[in-house]
Amino acid sequence: MRLEGKEYRTIWFDNNVVKIIDQTKLPHQFRIKELKTVKDAINAIKVMEVRGAPLIGATAAFGLVLAIIEKNDQSFLKKSAKDLICSRPTAINLKWAVDRMMNKLSGVNSDQILEIALNEVNEICEEDIKFCENIGLNGLKIIEEIYNKKKDTVNILTHCNAGWLATINWGTATSPIYHAHKKGIPVHVWADETRPRNQGANLTSYELNEEGIKNTIIADNTGGILMQRGEVDMCIVGTDRTLANGDVCNKVGTYLKALAAHDNKIPFYVALPSSTIDWNIKDHKNIPIEKRNSDELSQVEGLDEKGDIKKIQIYPKKSKAMNLAFDVTPAKYVTGLITEKGICEASEKGLKELFK
Ligand code: MRU
Repeated sequence: MRLEGKEYRTIWFDNNVVKIIDQTKLPHQFRIKELKTVKDAINAIKVMEVRGAPLIGATAAFGLVLAIIEKNDQSFLKKSAKDLICSRPTAINLKWAVDRMMNKLSGVNSDQILEIALNEVNEICEEDIKFCENIGLNGLKIIEEIYNKKKDTVNILTHCNAGWLATINWGTATSPIYHAHKKGIPVHVWADETRPRNQGANLTSYELNEEGIKNTIIADNTGGILMQRGEVDMCIVGTDRTLANGDVCNKVGTYLKALAAHDNKIPFYVALPSSTIDWNIKDHKNIPIEKRNSDELSQVEGLDEKGDIKKIQIYPKKSKAMNLAFDVTPAKYVTGLITEKGICEASEKGLKELFK
């Protein structure tokens, strides 16, 4: 998709280095960063220069490529895989991508290992793009249906950033929106600001602006009143881990939006590629939920009057703050899961019908 008037992917390989768009600086500064070592890849995931479930999976896969370039040694590769998996615990795509790479690379001692790793990472990225495109085409049908009834702009609420910046291209939650826009269906997006890191304001709104899609940033608690007043036709969110029973783990605040949508009979969809499904954990209470530094809450970054990026403290210095990054929306509040294979009920039966 486009940024600064040019087509980009979020991550690519060039001359033995991995290149990323540094998302900590967006939307105020567009900066391409080079990752040269597996440590750089781990750090980029940890400090969220790259974020979003599919993109951190791809970055971890590229991290293993960098590990091989550094040192073609199986024990270093194994240790790198372990460190990459631990770099962020909640999004399952990270472990999924590392396991997929290690399936191909474990025990390979020949010089061909780099070529094998590059082929696999390329496949992971191409597959993610294809899957996200299909999610868009499948989700487009829902938007079309609403438009055909309403004959007016379709208002879609989304939370956090499950846009193309969270994937390699297209996005998950935004892909149906991009497809609807390309087809000439008038759409308008309510972008939840998404405290504390403001991914909705800084990334979703930014990427929609770059594609010419109408959107309005709202404070996280505004969705409820908009739903009560008929200003939201549907919600679409992404996910970091969806259980086989259809429970959806996503950015904190998603659950409260689902409750409000349920109370107002507004369809609440979750868009995801199959790499985000956790087939093993049975009870959502066993999902590791990231507890992030409380500085993210108490300090806010933005542009000062001179146009420089500045961080300021907004809480009383003595106050304690707690910062859980994700929550879980029970399957019963999810109207449907939009996947690369079609739309299904958020349940074991629904998922198993699509993914035999
Ligand atoms: O903390 P983040 O920015 O990594 O959280 C990301 C989200 O919650 C996204 O909505 C989610 O990863 C889905 S990505 C398609």
